[in-house]
Amino acid sequence: MISKASAPGKIILFGEHFVVHGTKAILCAINKRVTIISEKNKSQNISIKSSLGENSIPISESIENVDSMFKPFFFIAKKIINENNFSNGIDIDIQSDIPIGAGLGSSSACCVAAAASVSNLFSKPEKNQILELAIEAEQTIFPKTSGADCTVSVFGGIIGYEKGITYEIIETEHEFDFIVVNSKKPHSTSIVVDRVNKFKNENKEIFNGLCDDERKLIIQAVKALQKFDLETVGKCISQNQIFLEQLGVSNDQLLEIIKIIEKETFGAKITGAGDGGCIIALTDKNEKEAVVGHMKTEYEAYSVTIDKTGMQVFNDN
Ligand code: PMV
Repeated sequence: MISKASAPGKIILFGEHFVVHGTKAILCAINKRVTIISEKNKSQNISIKSSLGENSIPISESIENVDSMFKPFFFIAKKIINENNFSNGIDIDIQSDIPIGAGLGSSSACCVAAAASVSNLFSKPEKNQILELAIEAEQTIFPKTSGADCTVSVFGGIIGYEKGITYEIIETEHEFDFIVVNSKKPHSTSIVVDRVNKFKNENKEIFNGLCDDERKLIIQAVKALQKFDLETVGKCISQNQIFLEQLGVSNDQLLEIIKIIEKETFGAKITGAGDGGCIIALTDKNEKEAVVGHMKTEYEAYSVTIDKTGMQVFNDN
């Protein structure tokens, strides 16, 4: 039997970094997805392939000894094999249209889709179990993850997220259009998170003040999202960018992109860890193609909308 599952990437509308320290973040699943196909094999190996390469480990290998970019997926396969007393291996094929290392939740979406696809080889997966397993898998490479990315990838739509796996779905029937501009500067989430931690330790009062301001901003932003007040959402996005600059996660290249795109949109900011990765801007539906066209003369840019489905398991195989 072949098992296929897919999961969306994400953008963070508000609250990245602050969420690691207990403040709420607002995330949105986007219409860029990863699809994972898995199949039981007759060997004693777990084999993984993606556009980045291939790797294989014996099912008996201890996960602590695995040094591979595929570690989270080996973790998932090993855990499910052990729980089901399965005596053979599994082949996992990852196909993704989410840019890697750009802050669009590629690694979390892969963890979610892998957990769902491999689980489905044995029994029908349940969303909360998949979420728990995906976060555990992601922690094998990024122990400090807040879990926000995996959560929005599982449930889709727009969510409010607080560390400790508490989330709320922000109901809205509206369609929002965002432009994503990829700075093409790779970043390491854990390095930037560590830098923010250092800032917090050295500037306790300023940091606590920023957390309070971010909380207030998010209350205002959620009301505006629900009223489809694009002007106010855009202003909140730009204000969030200022808070991120104060945390030290922006740079000249990102600011340059923001300066250009802000002229044509409601507001723009970093999405994700910063220091590279992508900029998002909220745009009018009728303007989006023109904005993408202008940005494309210098950068990689595309429009995205909200994915309302979240994780999907395909049972028709
Ligand atoms: O890995 P990224 O770039 O999608 O950023 C994750 C967002 C952070 O708040 C910086 C970290 C986290 O775990 O929430």
